[in-house]
Amino acid sequence: MILQGKNVVLGVTGGIAIYKAVDLCSKLVQAGANVDVIMTEAATHFVTPLPFQTLTKRPVSVDMFQLLRDTEMAHISLSKKADVLVIAPATANTIAKLALGLADNLLTSTALASRAPLVIAPAMDADMWAHPATQQNVQLLRSRGAVFVGPARGRLASGRMGQGRLAPIEDILGAIRQTLGSKGPLAGVRVLVTAGGTQEPLDPVRHIGNRSSGKMGYALAEAARDMGAQVILVSAPTCLAPVFGVEMLHVRTAAEMHRAVMERLSQVDVLIMAAAVADYRPKHAAVQKIKKGAKGLVLELERTEDILGAVAKARPSLGKPRVVVGFAAETEDLLKNAREKMHRKKVDLLVANDVSAPDSGFGVETNRVVLLAPGKKEEALPLLPKFEVAERVLSKVAALLEAE
Ligand code: CTP
Repeated sequence: MILQGKNVVLGVTGGIAIYKAVDLCSKLVQAGANVDVIMTEAATHFVTPLPFQTLTKRPVSVDMFQLLRDTEMAHISLSKKADVLVIAPATANTIAKLALGLADNLLTSTALASRAPLVIAPAMDADMWAHPATQQNVQLLRSRGAVFVGPARGRLASGRMGQGRLAPIEDILGAIRQTLGSKGPLAGVRVLVTAGGTQEPLDPVRHIGNRSSGKMGYALAEAARDMGAQVILVSAPTCLAPVFGVEMLHVRTAAEMHRAVMERLSQVDVLIMAAAVADYRPKHAAVQKIKKGAKGLVLELERTEDILGAVAKARPSLGKPRVVVGFAAETEDLLKNAREKMHRKKVDLLVANDVSAPDSGFGVETNRVVLLAPGKKEEALPLLPKFEVAERVLSKVAALLEAE
């Protein structure tokens, strides 16, 4: 995980969304980051430094003139050690100071002294956010490379609806991870991932689907983003939240997924087909809801497009994607079927998983897979969280791109 061992300086300013910054701080610590919190004086009117200090097990800095153990000035010391400076929540006031380069407290001084990437998660009243002054400050900071995440739309502290809520914590974490990984092993590489199980309509209220949760594909999209890739995620319906920093394309059927993939094929370096694509669809989807009768019902099914098959045909003339990864979901003879599938689907890497095991495959958080590549030794990975499986798969992809 990209956050492991990274030095994150978390700046917290005085807004009501501050209680969510405690959760952000906790998640950063859980992900293995070394977190130093700087609070503005206004922030301490909303919460005391205690929750941040308890979570990070480090002193929280507020006072500009506090001396550290090594007698270095706090703002210089923190600005030098930061791999990333995150300000969440960021008030309009602090954003204005950052745009102007003011350094009137420990946080703004640290920001001015630091050359670390800056991630800003604003939270304020909608009118303050929409004000031309704020918008110009945001533009100026963006032009200097700052990454903004949010604010989101919804109910504000005033009770009004509008844009001004702190972005979801998962999105702020996504922005931090993307920023930290921007120069990673997949920097500049365009990756298309498919995820989830396609749905083939029977009538307006029913479909034929499968048990895929989309978790493996979403983990691949996140991990590719964290390694610096530009990612497109073509997703069949899932219950998962969109992945921050990834272009999301929502499809439903195998035909829609086929179209979405083929349209983008010439623009991508890597294709990862993690989706569970239906092999059959009802030949005729009823226009109105099918009513039950006294007898049984026979459905006539027809084959869907084999997306990897179409990719294999298009690839020689397109010269893209440079690397194609397939998945094999099997319930018996895993390796025999996977080897056959690798050759039939003409993929550079095949991820085989036994979906009949309770701790591996559909719906669960972990996976146990075997990696197969033509002419290479098969590699059985241990039971791992899906995100770690994704990291291993993408390391192989990076090596295949390198070996070209
Ligand atoms: N796949 C595809 N198009 C389809 C079906 C599957 O591109 N219509 C892709 C999947 O995304 C996966 C790989 O092919 O990467 C293997 O999918 P799987 O369902 O395991 O294999 P099938 O080819 O469908 O073969 P079978 O169902 O007979 O095992």
